[in-house]
Amino acid sequence: MLRQTKYLSKHYDVQDGHRLSVYERDGGYQQAKRALQMDRQALVDDMKAANIRGRGGAGFAMGVKWSFMPWPPKPDRPHYLVINADEGEPGTFKDRTLMEKAPHLVIEGCIIGCFGIGAHAAYIYVRDELHLSKERLWGAIEEARAKGYLGKKPFGIDYPVEVYVHTGAGAYICGEETSLLNSLEGKRGEPRLKPPFPAQYGAFGMPTTVNNLETIAAVPIALEMGGDAFSKLSDLHNIKDGGCRLYGVSGHVNKPGVFEACVGLTLRELVYDLGGGVKHGELLGVIPGGSSCPIIRPDDVVDAPDPKSPLHPWHGKSALDVPMGVDTYRALGTMLGTCCAIVLSDKVDPILAFHNLMRFYRHESCGQCTPCREGSAWIFRILDRMVAGQATLEELDRLHEIADNIMGNTICAFGEGTAMPALGFLRKFRKEMEQSIRTKGKSSTGVLAP
Ligand code: NAI
Ligand code: SF4
Repeated sequence: MLRQTKYLSKHYDVQDGHRLSVYERDGGYQQAKRALQMDRQALVDDMKAANIRGRGGAGFAMGVKWSFMPWPPKPDRPHYLVINADEGEPGTFKDRTLMEKAPHLVIEGCIIGCFGIGAHAAYIYVRDELHLSKERLWGAIEEARAKGYLGKKPFGIDYPVEVYVHTGAGAYICGEETSLLNSLEGKRGEPRLKPPFPAQYGAFGMPTTVNNLETIAAVPIALEMGGDAFSKLSDLHNIKDGGCRLYGVSGHVNKPGVFEACVGLTLRELVYDLGGGVKHGELLGVIPGGSSCPIIRPDDVVDAPDPKSPLHPWHGKSALDVPMGVDTYRALGTMLGTCCAIVLSDKVDPILAFHNLMRFYRHESCGQCTPCREGSAWIFRILDRMVAGQATLEELDRLHEIADNIMGNTICAFGEGTAMPALGFLRKFRKEMEQSIRTKGKSSTGVLAP
């Protein structure tokens, strides 16, 4: 059942919704003021009960992540909150809407987050190309500071909090949390080996929590509602995936955009009800959350006879009807990722779409690990040959081998983010690829650019 909400996007269509006066008129900053007077453990427990799964792509439980921070903070080891707003995942454009239209919700989330993890400074790392996002955040920080909501004594309470905006420089890999931390410190934006996780060794070597921007924006809403009630907004709270979130849809749909709904929306609802249905033909497939997840085809059927499987209630049904949750999608053999779906119509040649995607990964690999650096380039070269009608069936099998060998053999998740969609295309469009090889590159399907 389609259940749209208006919590994160409350001010999206309101005149001057990004201004402090409007935000405060509707109860803004009350939760930050309340949080700063709460018992810290009670705040963290409430956030755990909210079951907010990280909205950046990995889906890690936010409250649990906060609880990893060493406690109490040591005087010589300040804690930091770092907000990942380097939104660079293809097809993903949800965080920017929050920065542009609800910047005070983000700042309020940062104040609460700082208190929850024992930090006095939050850094919002913003993708540099997002000019309006930066402007709106700077404006909101200025307004909040002038009103005494940031600074030495926010709301007159003796818990200093400062929020800073740091701009990236256009590298996709700086959205990976440890690479982002290196970049924040002025170093080359390359991922670090984990462990140590940022909670032990983060920004400037200090205990740090890195949260996605949408994740932190959900915090004031969850606190106002109460963690349990927030979690219960979702159909999936029994498997610890709660609340409301932003869904994006782009590609071949009639109404691309960002929509807010309870966790548990289905892909069918996102594509057909919110996205207005497929443009230029029928549905070929959907990459569910940014580009780093295996594609889902409309004829994929759920095979989950085991009653213990999170997918069992949808056994025998179309994969498009499975509620979009972190665990349900993992069980489905794909990933929820950023929850911003890329829709491909059946007029698209899946090989061209695959080729286009792999061009991106080859270009963005930071080059530290051989399987990722060489593997992404090798996959792209074979696809180049396939598009030119020069690939062989043996090379099709080699694509599988290369992708398999990237999995689990790299420093950061980028490697898997390359291999998983590659394996998805290879498994779901094997027939089309074989046909293309046999006919020397003649497309079995479409004519549209991906
Ligand atoms: P991850 O699963 O390694 O980590 C998730 C989070 O949990 C991290 O903050 C990590 O520090 C923390 N964590 C995990 N295990 C921990 C432990 N034992 N102790 C302490 N902390 C722990 O995933 P990662 O690399 O953070 O994210 C990968 C995802 O990012 C991909 O799924 C991809 O979809 C997404 N992504 C999103 C982008 C965007 O623009 N939003 C861009 C690129 C990738
Ligand atoms: Fe760099 Fe790729 Fe290795 Fe990540 S997996 S560290 S992007 S080479």
